[in-house]
Formats: sequence, C-alpha cells, structure tokens
Amino acid sequence: MSFKTDFVWGAAAASYQVEGAAFEDGKGWSVWDALCRKSGAVFEGHTGDVACDHYHRYADDVRMMREVVGIRAYRLSISWPRVIPAGDGSANEKGLAFYDRLIDALLAANITPYVTFFHWDYPLDLYHRGGWLNPKSPDWFGKYTEVVVARLGDRVKHWMTHNEPQCFLGLGHGVGNHAPGVKMSMRDQLLATHHALIAHGRAVQAIRAKSKQKASIGWAPVGVVKYPATSSARDVEAARAQTFTCERPVWNPLWNNTWFSDPVCLGHYPEDGLKGYGADVPKINPGDMDTIRQPLDFYGVNIYNGHPVRAGDDGKAVDVKRPPGFPYTAMPWPVEPESLYWGPRFIAERYKLPVYVTENGLANADWVALDGKVHDPQRIDFTQRYLRALKRAAADGVDVRGYFHWSIMDNFEWAEGYGRRFGLIHVDYATQRRTPKDSAYWYRTVIENNGANL
Ligand code: FCB
Repeated sequence: MSFKTDFVWGAAAASYQVEGAAFEDGKGWSVWDALCRKSGAVFEGHTGDVACDHYHRYADDVRMMREVVGIRAYRLSISWPRVIPAGDGSANEKGLAFYDRLIDALLAANITPYVTFFHWDYPLDLYHRGGWLNPKSPDWFGKYTEVVVARLGDRVKHWMTHNEPQCFLGLGHGVGNHAPGVKMSMRDQLLATHHALIAHGRAVQAIRAKSKQKASIGWAPVGVVKYPATSSARDVEAARAQTFTCERPVWNPLWNNTWFSDPVCLGHYPEDGLKGYGADVPKINPGDMDTIRQPLDFYGVNIYNGHPVRAGDDGKAVDVKRPPGFPYTAMPWPVEPESLYWGPRFIAERYKLPVYVTENGLANADWVALDGKVHDPQRIDFTQRYLRALKRAAADGVDVRGYFHWSIMDNFEWAEGYGRRFGLIHVDYATQRRTPKDSAYWYRTVIENNGANL
C-alpha cells in the first residue's frame, strides 16, 4: 500500500502572498494592492508590499526548498500585472525576467515548477474596465497566458489556469472580504463566473498552441468535500451525491464543486444549479461551452477539510454536527483527514481525471522557541493524518499523482494578513529571517521514503 514511484511531492505558494516588490520593476497594481489600502479590509492593515520579499530572495528560498525540505516540485503562480502591468497590452520585460530566473533556479535545483496563471492578483486597470464582468475578459486572460507560455513554455511543462474560482468570485465579488472587495448581485457574480470559465478554456487553448513541449494542463479549484460519517454504503452514497450538488450556502452561494467543474470537465452547467440560480443564470452563447470544456490532463484540487454527513431516512445526506471540543486549526478550520480520502476519490470518479492535491495544510500558532527552533508537532500530526488518508485513496486505486503542501513558507494570508502561519518554513517579517520548522525536516523524510513512513 503506497504511492506510485513517480508520485510528485511538493509545496505551494502564490505570487501576491510571497513576492513583495509590489511596486518595483514596472509591476502594475493588482486588486489586492488596492484592497490592502482600504481601511479595515485586511487584519491590522497588513499589505503584500514586501511579504516574504521572495522577489529578491528567491535564490535562497529555492536553495532551502532543495537542501532543507527536499521538495521535488514547487507550485508557484505568476502575477499577471507584473507581466502585463495594465493587464492588457504591452508586456513588462523585467517582470518576465523575474520568472525566467525563478524557473531556472528551480530547474537547476531539480525542482519541477507547477505554474498557476491566476492566483487572485487581478490587474487593477482591468478591474476598472469591468473586470470579469467584461465579455472581453477571457481574451485578456488568453493573451496574458500566451505571453507567459511563449516565454517560459520551453522549460515549464505543468500549468494550472485558475486557483479556487469559488473564492475569487464568491469571496471577491459576493461576500466582499477578498479583492476586489465588492458585493455584487447574484446575477453579476454568475456572469463574472461564466467569463472566468470561458477564460479558463481560452487559456488551455493558448497553452496548447504556444507550448514548445507537450504541456500537462489542469486547474486548482476548491474541493468542497462531504465525507461519510460511517463506512456504510448508504452514508457513502449520500456523501457522494451531496459533494456534487449545487448547494448555495448563505455565506457564499458559489461554494460548490459542480457549477465550476461540470462545465469545465463535462461541458454543461449542472441541472440543479440551473434551477437553483434560476433567472440569475447568464445567457450562454453558442460556442461558450465548447470553449470552456477543453481536454485537461489533470484535476488539481485544494482540500483543507470537509463536512461529515450521514444518510437520512430518504437516503439524502444529513449534516452530522461536530461534537464540542472537535479539533480546529488556528484558522480556525476543522481537522478532517477523511476529506483527503473521499475528496480525491469522489472527484476522480466523477471527472475521470488524474488528481493532484494542489493545496493542503494548516495555520498553526508557530513561533521561534528559546532554542532557536520552531516546534510544530500539530503540523506534523495533521499532515501525517491527511497523507495517510491520501495514501489509502491511492491504495484503493484512486489515480492521485501528487501532493503540494500549503505552504512552503509563512506568507500573506489574504484578509488575515500575516496573522496566520501556514508555512513549513517560519518567516520573521521584520528581518526576513527564515527558520525551517520541525515539520519541514519531517516532510523531507516523508518525501525521501515516498510516504512509506507515514
Ligand atoms: C487557499 C488559497 C491559498 C491559501 C490557503 C490557506 O484558499 O488558495 O492562497 O490562502 O487557502
């Protein structure tokens, strides 16, 4: 019972969360640069202006990835406004040159880059032109993708289009706690979503057209996981069905799998969603679905937790309440290792694609101890439990190809600012000093043993 021998062991981060250099070398503003300046939007007024200063320290960071953590792959994202400052129009040579250097450093360290095009730092100028509501937005994204692939596609093979559309659309345009920080009507949220899905398809086409090698293309949505409270066949069935409903939770009506993944992987919006969103569903033009549904090489999924359910008398899923005292991380998100068994399994079954876990991890109360080290037994225990579940999925025949821990280092956690630490490596933001946590050394042994020691 083990992972395949070519299982990809990695860690992840994203441009705005680590790079800093927000106004250097010709980078344009992103919606996050703007939101951070809005009073009350981000914890204690933190910004990504400097973040982990990865823009300048990438060489040392890559060295640590290799020498300390021993990761074989690194999931990074490109800052669109660093590459094309106005979002549309001329490219910024210095921005492209940064990614050139970063990719070269990774390859020299034997670390395979997995590159995400959009991890939320949307160009502010494009937002002022209507952003995702503008029907031109898929073209803008397609052109941006072409520029990047033309430059990096000789060395980068693995690409992802969007990271967590449920968040940048639902949280950014509905709840309003993420950039651009607006509360749009449901109608507009669904229109923005439709354009973002077309943009995904355009990007896949652009990657295939421009890549100098056979590209491997996926994306990285949230995995909204319902897992069975018991192993009874009825509970499993109820959990599976509930994982693929187009539920519209009040806190974020876009928090589901199918409204995003059914069009992308199956070529149509889900029936129950069409009914539920009703008159708010945008006009679907001829050809839209063909663009959205492009053949993909893998399904990347970000899973941090799920929700236990059991089958009610009619067979339908009923939420199981978590008992008082249930373990929560510092986020606070529930600790639910089972989500890393059932999530990849259900997704692989429905969408029939190889799965990569493109994010998983936890925020923890980490600090540098008196002995100069960072002791984070919770991160080790959490990750061990989750990876055991993933390993069980692999043993049961689920085609899981890789795992990327979120995150390689502490970083800017969006609306929570620097108040949440997700890293394998601790960052002291005042000095930019990096200290590998105990979990970094532990993760290294997992990688070296291909998970046999879990
Ligand atoms: C995910 C995001 C990622 C990070 C983790 C904790 O939703 O994709 O950037 O913030 O959560």
